[in-house]
Amino acid sequence: MAHLFNRNVLLGVTGGIAAYKSAELIRQLQEQGANVRVIMTQGAMEFITPLTLQALSGNPVHTQLLDAEAEQGMGHIELARWADLLLIAPATADVLARLVAGRADDLLTTAALATAAPLLVAPAMNQQMWLDPATTDNIATLSRRGVHLVGPASGEQACGDIGPGRMEQPAVIAAAAASLFQSGLLAGKRVVITAGPTREALDPVRYISNHSSGKMGYALARAAAEAGAHTTVVSGPVALTVPDKVRHLPVESANEMLDQSLALLKECDIFIACAAVADYRPATMEQQKIKKGPEQVTLQLVRNPDIVTAVAESENRPFTVGFAAETNEVLSYARDKMQRKGLDMIVANDVSDPSIGFNSEHNAATVLWSGGEQALPRASKDSIARHIIELIAKIQR
Ligand code: PMT
Repeated sequence: MAHLFNRNVLLGVTGGIAAYKSAELIRQLQEQGANVRVIMTQGAMEFITPLTLQALSGNPVHTQLLDAEAEQGMGHIELARWADLLLIAPATADVLARLVAGRADDLLTTAALATAAPLLVAPAMNQQMWLDPATTDNIATLSRRGVHLVGPASGEQACGDIGPGRMEQPAVIAAAAASLFQSGLLAGKRVVITAGPTREALDPVRYISNHSSGKMGYALARAAAEAGAHTTVVSGPVALTVPDKVRHLPVESANEMLDQSLALLKECDIFIACAAVADYRPATMEQQKIKKGPEQVTLQLVRNPDIVTAVAESENRPFTVGFAAETNEVLSYARDKMQRKGLDMIVANDVSDPSIGFNSEHNAATVLWSGGEQALPRASKDSIARHIIELIAKIQR
């Protein structure tokens, strides 16, 4: 299962014999869907070459704190911001001590200080070094600060000793990394999400639709499932893979989307309307292909039902979240929509900028609810979706 899908993992490799296992670790992280970038310390490069890890990660390996070229591209602050997780594996006794001291004398420890991402360490050292009171104290301090620990395992060591201190197996480390993102914030909740466009048929071969790709709705479905919710996506026609652990109900028209959504209400705690539903449909659908004829034709359109309003007006309504796709006066139009449609929350996004909104990889939004608002600056749709799900989990209690 791809629990690290689209997560940015910054892997710090330090100087221990287990550094060779970081090659397999990169593979395991990528199998879980992660994007991996690597920082190597000077010590690590004594055990394995940056070229090996570059080839495996598909990204240049970062080794220097002060590197003019890197500062223009991925310098230490960019790396720290890029990371969803900083994973140090193997983590030597020395790097643990330097983390405790808050040192910033190489790229890895500087990134550790500069990142807001969670930190997971996989210690690897001689068993006597692991059992030394200094290391024990350092681990206790790091745990108190919220640093996550995986391993070490016990057994025969490279130096011939037997005891605790071997780095955990890469698969175990990758699983520990993935488990940090299984928040359980919506455990047991039933979430229904509409996604993608609707198609309103004119005749058997033509339809009216829009440019929604479904990416935002599917990112929300992925984030809801990761948060432990039983998640259903009612989806218009899109070219996307359905995320793991998400039930998929395909529909075409607004009327079909309405019927599916209402049918799901008896098993729904949270409803998120992300679909770009056509507001109008042709008054009649011709049974035969419309023939080319006069220079001008007039299409008669009739209003489609408003799905999210119908959900918000239903008996035992779920916590109801809408989106507002606006091109100007984004916040005031969104506030008005939230009120008019009777929503608990609305996600306002500006669809006039082609680099965010419809059919792009990124979005930026402001989430509004009766008690407040939160701006979500430009980020991947997966990242925006996770923030929206966190806010819903907080507010709907
Ligand atoms: O799919 P992507 O390419 O990733 O693009 C994402 C998106 C831009 C489509 C998404 O972020 C978004 O803004 N979705 C809402 C699009 C929309 O139709 O907005 P609206 O302002 O017209 O509608 C307001 C709300 O009413 C929405 O929650 C919409 O789902 C809902 N609605 C609208 C009309 C209708 N007949 N029924 C509805 O339920």
